[in-house]
Amino acid sequence: VSLAAYNTFRFSYQAEYFAVAETLESLKVLLAWANRLDIKVTIIGGGSNLLISNDISGLVIINRLAGMKAREHLGDLVSFTVAAGETWHNVVEHAIEQEWYGIENLALIPGTIGAAPVQNIGAYGVEIKDVLARVQVIDQTTGDVYWVNARDCGFAYRDSHFKGKWKNKLIITSVELTLKKHADLLLSYGGLANRVEGEPSLKKVFETVCKVRQEKLPNPSELANAGSFFKNPIVSSEQHDELKKRFPNLVSFPFESGFKLAAGWLIDQAGWKGKKYQGVGVYDKQALVLVNYSEENAAPLMVLEAQIKESILDLYGVELEREPVEFPVLVNNPASELSF
Ligand code: EPU
Repeated sequence: VSLAAYNTFRFSYQAEYFAVAETLESLKVLLAWANRLDIKVTIIGGGSNLLISNDISGLVIINRLAGMKAREHLGDLVSFTVAAGETWHNVVEHAIEQEWYGIENLALIPGTIGAAPVQNIGAYGVEIKDVLARVQVIDQTTGDVYWVNARDCGFAYRDSHFKGKWKNKLIITSVELTLKKHADLLLSYGGLANRVEGEPSLKKVFETVCKVRQEKLPNPSELANAGSFFKNPIVSSEQHDELKKRFPNLVSFPFESGFKLAAGWLIDQAGWKGKKYQGVGVYDKQALVLVNYSEENAAPLMVLEAQIKESILDLYGVELEREPVEFPVLVNNPASELSF
């Protein structure tokens, strides 16, 4: 099966075996089958934070588990439980309709809710970890289903254990959010305060975030991409001050004990914005996003990535780190094998 329709970069690699899971029961059956035959399993949600760079051996399962359930508490909190295969933006829209606060800043992020905790999605000062109570998982090898508390998931900027030690081990089947029924808006990031017209309300913030994203980010159904291709790098205060001296317009934000740099700015200033290489390129309205105009395989994109990384390292002494997850996962790192 070609995976082109299952990743928003639209790279056309093959899966050896392929299935769509719509219920927890069918997911369990598929995992048991794969275990019995010792077949590797790869899970895909919306495929919008994914770089597929080769054919995938083993079984690829599209996670389409469906369903939403809310439990309102006497206070003013709501527990909102959503199956992993639901589309994230539909979850946000539902919350807005119900007037539940907490995820309006995360409107229009592509992908499924099950994928959202993997990279701890974030925008405009909010990350999913801020509203996440717990995550239901299934153990790939034992088939056990259980809940993990959000505080145990190792959340950090665009990171979690699901990207690290739980990769290929735990699959997210459901997510429980805690939302608020009282107004609690966060407008201090990304110029939102200036963009909202009139008195800010839940609906207005939601609509503003949608508008800003539509202006800056390519719609994956029109132009293939996976959102930000690099993380915003975190540097020490010393390195930041030095860079600021050389580049007075540097865009940066205090982060933990150092600074987070806007990678989009670094790449833009290095002259990459709008550049094309074969059938891929750097988006012309947001240099942090790489786009695929016409390629069927990922090789040109990875060449472009390497060139950008090298130029950013040369110019600023900053190492960029890729943001989307790469499939297939190399079990042994060939580079480190060769170095012996
Ligand atoms: N900038 C430029 N040139 C560019 C792009 C950005 O100069 O080509 C400057 C902007 O002027 C701005 C700053 O860089 O001052 C930051 O840009 P922006 O507000 O677009 O946000 P970002 O840091 O580039 C991050 C997230 C986005 C998220 C936005 C909004 C990461 C890796 N990316 O981007 O998330 O939507 O903030 O909060 O943290 C994603 O992860 O896929 C994603 C789109």
